[in-house]
Amino acid sequence: MVINMNNAVEVENLRKVYEMHKRNGFFRRTKAEVVSVDNVNFSVPEGQALAFVGPNGAGKSTTIRMLTGILTPSAGYARVLGYVPWKERSHMAYHIGAVFGQRSQLWYHLPASDTFDLLAKIYNLDKVEYRKRRDELVDRFRLGPLLDVPVRKLSLGQRMRAEVAASLLHKPRLLLLDEPTIGLDIHAKQQLRELVSEWNRKEGLTVFLTSHDTGDIENVAERVIIINHGRLVLDDSVENLRRQYEGLSLEEALSHIYGLEVESEETEDVPELQAVG
Ligand SMILES: Nc1ncnc2c1ncn2[C@@H]1O[C@H](COP(=O)(O)OP(=O)(O)O)[C@@H](O)[C@H]1O
Ligand SMILES: [Mg+2]
Repeated sequence: MVINMNNAVEVENLRKVYEMHKRNGFFRRTKAEVVSVDNVNFSVPEGQALAFVGPNGAGKSTTIRMLTGILTPSAGYARVLGYVPWKERSHMAYHIGAVFGQRSQLWYHLPASDTFDLLAKIYNLDKVEYRKRRDELVDRFRLGPLLDVPVRKLSLGQRMRAEVAASLLHKPRLLLLDEPTIGLDIHAKQQLRELVSEWNRKEGLTVFLTSHDTGDIENVAERVIIINHGRLVLDDSVENLRRQYEGLSLEEALSHIYGLEVESEETEDVPELQAVG
C-alpha cells in the first residue's frame, strides 16, 4: 500500500476473529468464531480529532486494542505513526498516549504524582522538561489538590482527568481513548471533552476516541466513523452528518444509521462461550 506520511493512522482490511469454544453438554466442545472487526479500512490524518462510534459490541475496543498493539489482528494491516503496532509496540509507545476507561495506568494505591514520576523515568524525559510539562498539565487539568491523594480515593471524574494528563506527559502525537467518558457525570464528561479538544487544537494532537456517547462526538470530533457488527457503516465529517440529518439530534441520527444496516447473520446466542485467544 502507499504510505502517506501525513496520516497518523492507516488501516487496511483489518480483521479480528475470536475463536471460541462452545460447550455442548459435558464433554463435547465445538468451535465457534466471532468476527469482531470485519475488514475495516480508514486513515486518520495527523492533527484530526476522530470519534469512532458504535453500539455495544460493535468492535470499537477490539479496533483500538489492535491500534495500540495489545492485540494482533487475524488479517490486515495497520500503521500508527509509521509503526506496525503489534510488532513495534515499545517504540510506538514513545509517541502515543492511550487511555482506557476501564483500565487504569495510574497506580491505585499511590498518588498520581508518583505515577507521573514513574512515567517520566519510563519515557526517559529530561528532568526540567518533565517538570515544566507536568506543571502545565496539573494546572490545566486542575489536579493540584489531587496530586498527592492516593488514586483509589479520587472520584471517577478526577481519576480520568489524571489518566488523560498522565497519557500526555511525554507529548505524544496521537492520543487513543477508549470510552473515556463512560460512567462520568455530565460535568466531568464536559471537562474531559474540553481538555482533549484543547490539546487537539493547541498541540495538533491527533485524537482517536471511541464512544457511544453523542456528546463526545459533538464536543471533540470533527469527523465520525461509525462501526456496527464489526463493519464501517459511515465515515464523514460531523458537519456533513449534521447537515444530512438536519432536524434530528445526533442521537436520533445515529439510531437511524444503526437501524439502516441490514441485519447480518449473527452467531447464535450461546450462553457458555469461553475465549481461547
Ligand atoms: N476476548 C474476546 N473473546 C471473544 N469475543 C470477544 C472478545 N472481546 C470482544 N469480543 C466480541 O467481539 C465483539 C466486539 O467487541 P468489542 O470490540 O469489545 O466492542 P465494543 O468495544 O464496540 O463494545 C463483541 O461481539 C464481543 O463480544
Ligand atoms: Mg468497548
